[in-house]
Amino acid sequence: MKKKWWNDKIVYQIYPRSFKDSNGDGIGDLKGITEKLDYLKGLGADMVWISPVYQSPMKDNGYDISDYYAIDPIFGTMEDMDLLLEKAKEKGLKIIMDLVVNHCSSQHEWFQKALQDPKGEYGDYFIVKEGKEGKAPNNWRSIFGGSVWEPIEGTPYYYYHTFDKEQPDLNWENPRLRQEIYKMMNWWLEKGLAGFRVDAITYIKKDPSYKSLPADGADGLVGLSEVSSNYPGIEVFLKEMRRKTFDVYDAFSVAEMSGVNAEKLREYIGPDGLFCSIFDFSYMELDVELFQWYRPVKVTAAKIKEPLFENQKMAQEAESYLSVVMENHDQPRSLSKWFAKEEIGYETAALLAVMNLTLRGIPFIYQGEEIGMENIHFDHIHQYEDVMMWGQYQRAKQEGCTEEECLDMANRRSRDHARTPMQWDDSENAGFTTGTPWFPVNPNYKKINAKAQENGKSILNFYRELTAFRKSEEWKDVLVYGSLEPVLEKEENVIAYKRSLDGKELLVLLNFVNRPQKIHLEKEPKRALISNYPLEEIRSREYEMKPFEAVVLEV
Ligand code: GLC
Ligand code: CA
Repeated sequence: MKKKWWNDKIVYQIYPRSFKDSNGDGIGDLKGITEKLDYLKGLGADMVWISPVYQSPMKDNGYDISDYYAIDPIFGTMEDMDLLLEKAKEKGLKIIMDLVVNHCSSQHEWFQKALQDPKGEYGDYFIVKEGKEGKAPNNWRSIFGGSVWEPIEGTPYYYYHTFDKEQPDLNWENPRLRQEIYKMMNWWLEKGLAGFRVDAITYIKKDPSYKSLPADGADGLVGLSEVSSNYPGIEVFLKEMRRKTFDVYDAFSVAEMSGVNAEKLREYIGPDGLFCSIFDFSYMELDVELFQWYRPVKVTAAKIKEPLFENQKMAQEAESYLSVVMENHDQPRSLSKWFAKEEIGYETAALLAVMNLTLRGIPFIYQGEEIGMENIHFDHIHQYEDVMMWGQYQRAKQEGCTEEECLDMANRRSRDHARTPMQWDDSENAGFTTGTPWFPVNPNYKKINAKAQENGKSILNFYRELTAFRKSEEWKDVLVYGSLEPVLEKEENVIAYKRSLDGKELLVLLNFVNRPQKIHLEKEPKRALISNYPLEEIRSREYEMKPFEAVVLEV
């Protein structure tokens, strides 16, 4: 397999609003990120993905961009961005930004002009259709809930939005719009970005018939999976984008793109793929039914490993690298999602860390994951902020959930759980800000914070140990380029796999339950390399794993 410069990178995701505030206004900013570059380097990150910092009215915290060429004042200035790029470069850290081009903000100049003249030049930058008998053009449901269509006041027209109504979709069928996007991407790449995390790109191509389908919910609407999820023809746009932007700069690109199947994977991210990588979200939302937070489902190791191994196998066959994630800014905290409150602690956090850094793919660490941050808990649903939650709330109500059930849903699932301020130390506001934080700090910060974990046995130090292990001369090739083969597949509570290359072999064993598990090994291991328990030699093929044990063995 031909090696690429990004194959061995470890990526750290920053949600800037909640990372570090440098000026006391309660909102994290670019200078705050620059202050923490040594921390990121020390953690073992090679590349940093910064969620959107572009000018935005912040209806979706920056995923609604009103000017792609400007930094929003709450995050700082373009000089701050340039300084961040320069300092990161000095330290050997690469920076990637979010590329949000399925949609922009309703405040973007293009959209404002489109509203003036829906059938004019800028109207064609968006998806504008006439209504039918005073109703929306069809019954498709937006991701955040409600119709994808919003009427344009004083006209017979509607515009299309995959997400919130303040996030109008851009019309990729329009070649002029596409050129504008490529120009903007190259402008940023020219500045020294190493690439982009490509937001919501799944949705840029729509079924051109725009026909209604049978409803799949009490709201009379239908989800977008049939009509605009990797819809045939999307590859034409993506190929063009790659050729005109990423290829020119040998840039890294990782796409948010669910549901790419085995047939398509090589085309999408194989050796000559449309992107370098896509995120493997296959086991991210097992705790709920698809797009329905109010329908909880119990997660077990057996449930996780099914899609996980299927995708790992698929990726190897396609000579490709998936991006491995346990968390991001759209998910609750992984510890809270997968474990009961009383199970959360060093062992469970370290278990997920081992999984994250030893699977085959590009590992992403989300801010706070490296110190074991957990979901917050609110007594009132109105304490939540996120726009997506309100859509889920409406649907839950329509489906007959009580207020209490809705609150429970939010306490388990709101995207805000990942967006509470980063917990740096045990001083007021967890050292995130000297002002009033834009969103409450998790009250557990006195105990769970980076400073308290600086020395001794801690989740943070375990992450550091793991990233060093992944980069070690002895094991890096096995962990980056080696194959992955599932083992002990019948074990309900254990996720286990072999990583091997050129006669070297690692065995990773992860016990997902709070009880010992007896397992039978194929071969007697040579030595234990890393574990969330004190290292001990395993001298037998019959092994009893300890509660939540995670261990990497040389075999
Ligand atoms: C992606 C982002 C999410 C955002 C949405 C709309 O899913 O990760 O945060 O709300 O796109 O841009
Ligand atoms: Ca600030």
